[in-house]
Amino acid sequence: MAKGLFIAIEGPDGCGKSTQIALLKEFLEKQGCDVLLTREPGGTALGEEIRKLLLVGKERKVSPYCELLLFEAARAQHVMEVLEPALNSGKIIIASRYADATRAYQGGGRGLPLEEVRKANELGTRGLWPDLTIILDIDSEEGLRRVKSCGKDALGKDLPPGELDRIEAESLDFHRRVREEYLKLAREEKERCKVVDGSQSREEVAREISALVLEKIKNNA
Ligand SMILES: Nc1ncnc2c1ncn2[C@@H]1O[C@H](COP(=O)(O)OP(=O)(O)O)[C@@H](O)[C@H]1O
Ligand SMILES: [Mg+2]
Repeated sequence: MAKGLFIAIEGPDGCGKSTQIALLKEFLEKQGCDVLLTREPGGTALGEEIRKLLLVGKERKVSPYCELLLFEAARAQHVMEVLEPALNSGKIIIASRYADATRAYQGGGRGLPLEEVRKANELGTRGLWPDLTIILDIDSEEGLRRVKSCGKDALGKDLPPGELDRIEAESLDFHRRVREEYLKLAREEKERCKVVDGSQSREEVAREISALVLEKIKNNA
């Protein structure tokens, strides 16, 4: 059976995930690869409903454990409905966020015990981890500045500049903890997780990502 590849693009809000995912897809398709783009939370009809519950409405009070479990619920659906079938049919999956985001946001950002987050991730992923995780690193103030000037909400709908989703709207300190947790993870899992400096130009970032992905494809063949 064809061997698929699972690539996750991670990093704090505004680090350039959406931008780079579009560029990577174009790059891989030019090489003749069969690419599937997906995102978390979301990626399935049910998951997109959960995405709305999680991200829309800054006024909504959500307990940290409810947030954790909703992310994992969406993930479990995503794994079964999208990721496993795509890998079994030999596709290259590019996912915007996956379980590492739960560690960074609910563990780092919200401060939930990492051991609990790890157990929750075990349930949500059912043991499926990316072959390669690219963490786009960005200074938290710069990331938030970008998000604010971007003018799209979590569902891709146009927004007046300055509007943020429920998690983007968290404090600067929250976003700094998220960034630190991503960097800590990258130090722990050097084989799977590669950090790319997201403050470089779009072209430079894209070049680094495509080199990392090509190397992984070569080793995967
Ligand atoms: N390398 C870059 N340099 C400057 N601005 C960027 C860069 N990459 C993306 N942007 C801009 O920053 C904003 C957020 O980028 P986006 O790709 O949506 O990030 P994310 O999906 O990680 O939140 C967008 O307006 C995008 O055009
Ligand atoms: Mg995005």
